[in-house]
Amino acid sequence: MTKESGIIMSSKKQILALLESGRGRNISGGFIAKQLNISRNAVWKAVKELEKEGYKIEAVTNKGYRLSEDNDILSVQGMLPYLSPKNISENIPERIFVHDVLESTNKTAKEMAVSGAEHGTVIVTDSQTAGKGRYGRAFHSPPGHGLYMSFILHPSKLCFSTPTLITAFAAVSVCEAVEAVSDKNPQIKWVNDVFIDGKKICGILTEAVTDFESGNTQWIVVGIGVNLRISPAELPEDLKQVAGAVFEKDNLPITRNRLCSEIANRIIHPENHNEKEMLEKYRQRMYMLGKKVLVTGTAETYEAVAVGIDDIGRLIVKRNNGELLSLSAGEIRIKL
Ligand code: BTN
Repeated sequence: MTKESGIIMSSKKQILALLESGRGRNISGGFIAKQLNISRNAVWKAVKELEKEGYKIEAVTNKGYRLSEDNDILSVQGMLPYLSPKNISENIPERIFVHDVLESTNKTAKEMAVSGAEHGTVIVTDSQTAGKGRYGRAFHSPPGHGLYMSFILHPSKLCFSTPTLITAFAAVSVCEAVEAVSDKNPQIKWVNDVFIDGKKICGILTEAVTDFESGNTQWIVVGIGVNLRISPAELPEDLKQVAGAVFEKDNLPITRNRLCSEIANRIIHPENHNEKEMLEKYRQRMYMLGKKVLVTGTAETYEAVAVGIDDIGRLIVKRNNGELLSLSAGEIRIKL
């Protein structure tokens, strides 16, 4: 890389950060040049580079540059305006890695965890070629429509009495983040699928990296896939009935960057949360309590009634013979 392109690279990111923080407003070339201590010509060159990457930037004579509101390209600079002061002060932006395409963010996160990545590292991608769901299923991850992200968390930084509660915590965090950016009321289907109006809009896959000899959990990887705006017609046949989206197609009132930050603000600092309160929020969003369900994914498939969530996040079900069971694994389907 030449010195000049080096300057353009760093200026480019700083200009993007300025444009993102003033989204929809004009920012004069002179102001940007002064802020970054570069020439107006260098500003212009960096803006051209950004345009080549797909950013729509309007340049108006005597007014300056303006990032068009419908830009939805994932970037750390686009997340900055929405990250909490705590995340900013702890240099979390330096631990956010944004990709265009990955096989699976969970796969990359596990590799990075093994190589020594820090707590709070976030891997985000526009699309996945081999997105993973629970029970070895594939997770549909096309470009432009969703948010696919994984967090690397260190068990010692989590305040939960049992690490498995991270799953419930992640589901509550996604619901609250979606609620913060929309007028929707997300609910949870045990264990951690997030639903809006009866359709799944988010799946969460939590994986652990364990030390083989001691059996201790060294890292937890929480993978989150949110469908922001895919229309049912675009979904594979098997998902058409079950999957939904947070927003209508062609209507994305917020950027994916914003939702990404809202989720990160809630997940990276679990120490801010009280376990009892978190469990209560989890229970309140659980939409199948009191309903007849079919329990699968366990040794036996059976019908039961979902009656509650215990203090370590297990689903309590009552079988037809009156027996009460606490499920820590398996899946349930509501019986109509
Ligand atoms: C499920 O619904 O079964 C869980 C789906 C989890 C999907 C997310 S997308 C980001 C992360 N990377 C993956 O490969 N999977 C998770």
